[in-house]
Amino acid sequence: MARRLVVLQSSANAPESGRVVGKVWLVGGGPGDPDLLTVKALRLLQSADVVVHDRLTPQPVLDLAGPQARMIDVGKRKSRHTLPQDDINALLVALALEGLKVVRLKGGDPFVFGRGGEEMQACREAGVPVEVVPGVSAALAAAAGAGAPLTHRGMAQAVTFVTGHAASGQAPDLDWNALASANHTVVVYMGLSSAPIITARLIEAGRAASTPVLAVENASRPDERRVLSTLGQLPSALSGIDGPAILIIGEVAALAEDATLLDQVLERVQA
Ligand SMILES: C[S@@+](CC[C@H](N)C(=O)[O-])C[C@H]1O[C@@H](n2cnc3c(N)ncnc32)[C@H](O)[C@@H]1O
Repeated sequence: MARRLVVLQSSANAPESGRVVGKVWLVGGGPGDPDLLTVKALRLLQSADVVVHDRLTPQPVLDLAGPQARMIDVGKRKSRHTLPQDDINALLVALALEGLKVVRLKGGDPFVFGRGGEEMQACREAGVPVEVVPGVSAALAAAAGAGAPLTHRGMAQAVTFVTGHAASGQAPDLDWNALASANHTVVVYMGLSSAPIITARLIEAGRAASTPVLAVENASRPDERRVLSTLGQLPSALSGIDGPAILIIGEVAALAEDATLLDQVLERVQA
């Protein structure tokens, strides 16, 4: 059967013919340790004309950009608010239409709770070439650093990544029955403020209050901190954690090494 070639490019916003268009690379910058960048990410950083990054991108990662690169922080404005996503999309497109090699450096992996999909679509719609370079997501770095495998024979046959982000006081819109099933690791991104609601929902749905939970703050960075507790104790275990943190919920969390046990934290605090 004859195959038809389909060219996936929008004509509405496509650049005028003859104009030299640059390219956007959506690059996973990893969890913070520059040694966890991929070789491809490093090469792109060294050769980019422009690096568009977030406010919290660690300096050791930014320092790997070549001296020619113009660094644009989309998190720094007079109002101290992050640039709205639509403006970031428009910026990436405009820079590439100037013929520049643009690295959009994202924390972790661009396609894991990173809004990389929206940036990719904006480039496609504008006819700007775009490539995605995967990165080490925070969950993977947290699990590796702690020695708590996300899946483990006989303990966890599945792992689910969820966002804990929700409107203030509300539960994230998740399938709690599915998440409460045994032999299953649940990794929560952005879950610090909603941790009390998340734990309550999981326990209501049948997950044991004694299920181990590992909280990892600043995974892979010099100030990384780990606290091991249980689902029932989680809200008190998190007091004092305010940096970016991942929650690893499930039996595998108990395999973590060097984690401070909640009981020890409480003993110290109450002494
Ligand atoms: C907007 S999401 C971005 C996730 C990112 N795309 C990834 O793949 O890791 C931000 C959340 O990721 C988690 N996170 C990012 N970096 C982290 C780190 N170094 N240690 C622990 N959690 C981290 C936190 O839950 C934080 O609130």
